[in-house]
Amino acid sequence: MSKKWQITVPGSTANLGPGFDSIGLSLSLYLELTVTLADQWEIIHVSEHLPQDFKIEDHLIFTIAKETAERYQKSLPPCRIEMRSELPFARGLGSSAAAIVAAIELANLVCDLNLTTQDKLNLSSQIEGHPDNATASVLGGLTISQMDEEGNVDTIHVQDLDASFVVFIPHVELKTSEARKVLPEQFDRGYAVRASANANMLAASFVLKDYERIGRYMESDLFHEPFRSKLIPQFDEIHCAAKEAGAYGTALSGAGPTVISIIPNNLGEAFVSKMKVRFPSHEILLTKTDHKGVSVTAVPNILT
Ligand code: HSE
Repeated sequence: MSKKWQITVPGSTANLGPGFDSIGLSLSLYLELTVTLADQWEIIHVSEHLPQDFKIEDHLIFTIAKETAERYQKSLPPCRIEMRSELPFARGLGSSAAAIVAAIELANLVCDLNLTTQDKLNLSSQIEGHPDNATASVLGGLTISQMDEEGNVDTIHVQDLDASFVVFIPHVELKTSEARKVLPEQFDRGYAVRASANANMLAASFVLKDYERIGRYMESDLFHEPFRSKLIPQFDEIHCAAKEAGAYGTALSGAGPTVISIIPNNLGEAFVSKMKVRFPSHEILLTKTDHKGVSVTAVPNILT
């Protein structure tokens, strides 16, 4: 058995408009853990934007891996972990779901838990509280999911979307817990029927890969965007500019504050260049869907 591994997990965007707490899309932006067994715990944040000041016992990777091992009556052995991330924290790009999925995979690896894909979908969605980001990080591609009251997840997995995605990341954080506080507790029946019809049409459009309709229904959310948009820098301006520049559609990425557009592949970098001029205070990245989901590879241990 190899003594050094790399766990790679894609980040994700959730909701895509009205697919609230259900639809997730993996993105080609990654969290990577390089893991070796060690005599004592060590977690090293390699990427500059990750905090340097933290306690191992509070670290999400450690706490979730330990909790997962204990759930299967195993004890987590000490590891040395180098963590790299392209996912900014609290921006709506699934950084916490990716960390949860990575931690479950870590426990699976070092404790020989033999978890099935279904186990990983259930565990990660239960911990996250909703299955949208977590299922996308486990499976890659696009996921349309439901989690029942016992925490069992049912997912329809759509692969090979023929489109690109552009994320507009502002330089402010917005915690999901804060962005959920502004949502109404209840909707009346007529409103709920319209909102769920839009979500149904979005899901069906993804299954059919009808990109014009995906864009249209991404922009028709009634569940969360009408209440959250006031928290999001330049939300309406990005919608309009992206549409004018040829995007199929634009929505809040998860709980925000990142905004995401789906665009035809051929617009690519030209679209991004235009948006960078228009929105200089955002970081704007061209991404694709990840096709693989969470993966583990053995890293050769080179002795020097
Ligand atoms: N579906 C979640 C929300 C995604 O919109 O609150 C963020 O975790």
